Amino acid sequence: MRTHYCGEIRSNHLGETVTLCGWVDRRRDHGGVIFIDLRDRTGIVQIVSDPERTPASYPTADGLRNEYVVQITGRVSQRPPESLNPKLPTGEIEIYADKIELLNAVRKQLPFPISNTDNESIREDVRLKYRYLDLRRDRMNRNLRLRHAVVKAMRRFLEDQAHFVEIETPILTKSTPEGARDYLVPSRVNPGEWYALPQSPQLFKQMLMVSGIDRYYQIARCFRDEDLRADRQPEFTQLDMEMSFMTEAEILALNEDLVCYIFKTVKNIDLPRPFPRLTYAEAMDKYGTDRPDTRFGLELVDVSDIVADSGFKVFSGAVKQGGIVKVLPIPGGNDSISNVRIKPGGDLFKEATIAGAKGIAYVRVREGGEIDTIGAIKDNLSDAQKQELLQRTGAQPGHLLLFGAGDTATVNKSLDRLRQVVGREMGLIDDDKINLLWVTEFPMFEWNEDEKRLEALHHPFTAPKLEDIDDLKTARSQAYDLVYNGLEVGGGSIRIHQRDVQEKVFAAIGLSEEEAKAKFGFLLDAFEYGTPPHGGIAYGLDRLVMLLAGEDSIRNTIAFPKTQQASCLLTKAPSGVDETQLKELYVASTYQPEDESIT
Ligand code: AMO
Repeated sequence: MRTHYCGEIRSNHLGETVTLCGWVDRRRDHGGVIFIDLRDRTGIVQIVSDPERTPASYPTADGLRNEYVVQITGRVSQRPPESLNPKLPTGEIEIYADKIELLNAVRKQLPFPISNTDNESIREDVRLKYRYLDLRRDRMNRNLRLRHAVVKAMRRFLEDQAHFVEIETPILTKSTPEGARDYLVPSRVNPGEWYALPQSPQLFKQMLMVSGIDRYYQIARCFRDEDLRADRQPEFTQLDMEMSFMTEAEILALNEDLVCYIFKTVKNIDLPRPFPRLTYAEAMDKYGTDRPDTRFGLELVDVSDIVADSGFKVFSGAVKQGGIVKVLPIPGGNDSISNVRIKPGGDLFKEATIAGAKGIAYVRVREGGEIDTIGAIKDNLSDAQKQELLQRTGAQPGHLLLFGAGDTATVNKSLDRLRQVVGREMGLIDDDKINLLWVTEFPMFEWNEDEKRLEALHHPFTAPKLEDIDDLKTARSQAYDLVYNGLEVGGGSIRIHQRDVQEKVFAAIGLSEEEAKAKFGFLLDAFEYGTPPHGGIAYGLDRLVMLLAGEDSIRNTIAFPKTQQASCLLTKAPSGVDETQLKELYVASTYQPEDESIT
């Protein structure tokens, strides 16, 4: 149907007759001469029709409207000097349309403009309902192509350079514990029994190492029924990898090769190597989070020892109860951040309290060097303690020190939030910067207060560091996360490959022997048939593409995503099903629709 793509036509095609297909991006009528911007997946080219030079095409051209689908045959001509468009790759030429065939018209009002020239913001629910039109827009089209380019680069590197094999693992499977709720599928032929959709291919990829596959990868769909956010979807895609006979250092090095290859291929960016590394303990200490955005400083400072014996009960009490006191020192903050914002009702106060803090104490260092602070600090800290605080935090005239005091987790969480808000508003975050770093040595477990038990921080198949193996409960693990500008884009670990260690870890998280056997008997059995030492990692593909595309939601990198309520506005999934379908599956619903008559 066509000889060329729209975006390909250049001056070297001058004089040629070409046939193009595409959509009318825009149609302009300049006093009887009709200009059409014709668009296909490669770009836009200008078509011209007028009653004198192209009488045959003119009536059709006159009737065209935005987004009509057409086939156009015409001669490539030089644009007159006054209408050259240096912004368009095809901007030196235009095509006089000898023939225009209308392939399909638009019969309804478009819910939103498609053309790039219309930059108005469109409501996301409308975009999702008409996703096929949304994806026709240049921005979304580019995101999908970028995603493809990323996957292609992954495959090229893994297959052609690193000898990985892609293997598919089941979607109808048994629950794997990655910490979220499962999506369940009832079995018709096994009444009363259920499959779970995989939260990740974790156990299958470990089995493949037992099978001697040595290097496995998969572009794997994962399903997690969890609370959704801008960077979380109920179904998402991982680049999932597993390798045998490699140390943690070797795995990280190979993964840096992979990530550098992806950045070079899709963005032509040479990343500096090796990627910086922070241990979990260092990351929590300096940034209050295990996924720090290191594009800017504003590092936290622990001052617990200085204030432990002070008369200020909020500080000394926190330390006595096993908590900490930490400071976020903000250079220039004395001028730019008012007390109103730190005190109850203020936005920074709110940020801290969302994270569980009760409030924020502060110290201001005025331009002359004198200190201004809340009364409780003024009255209850000795001059020596105040001086030590200034010294420890590197405070200079103009500094504002924000304090967090309480249990370690809450202090870290609230100061992390404040650090990010302040970093952004003070313009300390360079959006063009790319900071990738590894966070390593995560603890094996964290305490789950609700269930009153230890919980695997990564997952229970992660190996402890060998030197910590004698006290598993406090052990550090051989787990690592890749953090990209403050977002976790990948995570993995060296795995346990010995039955006795695996059994101890199951016991530590409160799984009885019977439960462990029922859930993971096949894994424990496999360990007895020659399991090699192995480890792996999984990247969140949607997140990686989101960051590479400069988007702020993974919904903009997935062709057909779900809303925050986990529904698809295009197909209207999830939806009710026939009673007979449920019967066949031995499923009855306990759902009671709310009585709408009662308000
Ligand atoms: P983890 O649970 O850390 O590890 O997941 C790996 C990466 O997947 C991405 N991710 C998500 N992306 C979008 N929506 C979600 N709901 C979502 N959840 C996770 C993140 C994350 O870093 N089996 C292990 C990997 C391993 O140990 O090899 C696992 O799944 O970017």
